[in-house]
Amino acid sequence: MHSSTTYILSIFIDLDTLRDRFIHCVFRSTMTASRRNFALLVLLIVMLFLNANAVIGSAEGSRQLKSSRNTTMTDRSSEEDEFKHEHSVDDPEVVASMVDMTIRNSTERRELGFFSCGTGNPIDDCWRCDRNWMRHRKRLADCAIGFGRNAIGGRDGKYYVVTDPSDEDPVNPRPGTLRHAVIQDRPLWIIFKRDMVITLKQELIMNSFKTIDGRGANVHIANGACITVQYVNNIIIHGLHIHDCKPTGHAMVRSSPSHSGWRTIADGDGISIFTSSQIWIDHNSLSHCADGLIDVIMGSTAITISNNYFSQHNEVMLLGHNDSYHRDKVMQVTIAYNHFGEGLVQRMPRCRHGYFHVVNNDYTQWEMYAIGGSANPTINSQGNRFLAPANPFAKEVTKRIVSPGHNWKHWNWRSEGDLLQNGAYFTPSGSGAAASFARASSLAAKSSSLVGTLTSNAGVLSCRRGVQC
Ligand SMILES: *[C@@H]1O[C@H](CO)[C@@H](O)[C@H](O)[C@H]1NC(C)=O
Ligand SMILES: *[C@@H]1O[C@H](CO)[C@@H](O)[C@H](O)[C@H]1NC(C)=O
Ligand SMILES: *[C@@H]1O[C@H](CO)[C@@H](O)[C@H](O)[C@H]1NC(C)=O
Repeated sequence: MHSSTTYILSIFIDLDTLRDRFIHCVFRSTMTASRRNFALLVLLIVMLFLNANAVIGSAEGSRQLKSSRNTTMTDRSSEEDEFKHEHSVDDPEVVASMVDMTIRNSTERRELGFFSCGTGNPIDDCWRCDRNWMRHRKRLADCAIGFGRNAIGGRDGKYYVVTDPSDEDPVNPRPGTLRHAVIQDRPLWIIFKRDMVITLKQELIMNSFKTIDGRGANVHIANGACITVQYVNNIIIHGLHIHDCKPTGHAMVRSSPSHSGWRTIADGDGISIFTSSQIWIDHNSLSHCADGLIDVIMGSTAITISNNYFSQHNEVMLLGHNDSYHRDKVMQVTIAYNHFGEGLVQRMPRCRHGYFHVVNNDYTQWEMYAIGGSANPTINSQGNRFLAPANPFAKEVTKRIVSPGHNWKHWNWRSEGDLLQNGAYFTPSGSGAAASFARASSLAAKSSSLVGTLTSNAGVLSCRRGVQC
């Protein structure tokens, strides 16, 4: 069963590259129709035919798998998860072409070079050098890279200008408030009329296709509830100070124009992402919350967390609900160009089950550890700078939280091109399975010697009209 899966998969992959080449050839053959192109076309048709057979074969295979084993419902569903996410492609060439494609895909929507003023940061170079950023705010939506690159937020909607920092009634929010903006059903690009501190009475429950864009104003979400992203997609959160978030709950809160519901206790996360996808969290400053600064759980995926400044906090980032929640195997999260700064203790991030690309971040302080996890997550750490604390017992970057009877030796954790300073060390594990790391690769890492420059503007940017941010 396993080898035939591998085979089917390689056909799919080959077919993909072949299709690429085919498109390329059609393009060229508009000028000169060559015999080679014709042969390729014939080959493509044959492959398509093979592929159709392979799909039928695979459906039959999984039917057999189900009928031949007498398992309980839960066993079976976790088996299917395993089937879906754990089969491997062993041919390194195939893996390499897959990674290439991902990286190509992650940059194709961007017009790099157009505005590029050479900050070297691939996200910022896409928009930051434009003095007229205020008139072109929505260009930001095409600048994401990594697993959350397709998050368009409210790009295709109207602007909504928040004028009122209050949050008096979370069930009937007043027009002009942030809560009134984020619950709407239609896409919206939300901006702020002036500087403000928004102290939320209850969680801010966002609806899909929203951008919160703090550029041009000094906006704090602080001293109350903070942001909840649940059962939605296409969210961009940019340029906010999020801090001193408190537990709230036991109250009614509106989540859309037509729905409000009872909220149980919210732990006091800065940003809580729950069963959601296509999310991009960029250039925010987060600190000092009651629970995590950013938590991503319950089957969420396609997420990029980039250019943020994290400080003064214990449990920084949790990615994955719990060890028995296997649905989090779908999770793919990119953590790039962030600065993990003063007063941080642990979980930068703490991962479970899924695929995590931790790339070109600057870690200047941790008290316990930087990157940790449990339940067999794949962690691809590339081009980061890890500066260990003075404490001789906290030099290890990594930490495994292993339940009794389990073994972490096969978990795929690798460090590639990381700069390890002041005695920092990363304990790798796993067989180095290329397919697994291919799923945890989302953009091309730059040299760790550039991390200082890449992250020098992490956190909220200061943006004024008519001047580059
Ligand atoms: C399959 O499960 C059923 C119900 O639990 C049980 O009665 C039956 O004996 C099992 N069959 C086999 C082959 O294990
Ligand atoms: C890249 O993009 C193409 C076309 O949009 C898509 O078919 C392919 O699956 C993508 N590949 C990866 C690895 O993201
Ligand atoms: C894991 O989470 C699921 C869903 O919330 C819950 O049903 C289950 O009890 C949790 N398991 C553990 C071990 O906490």
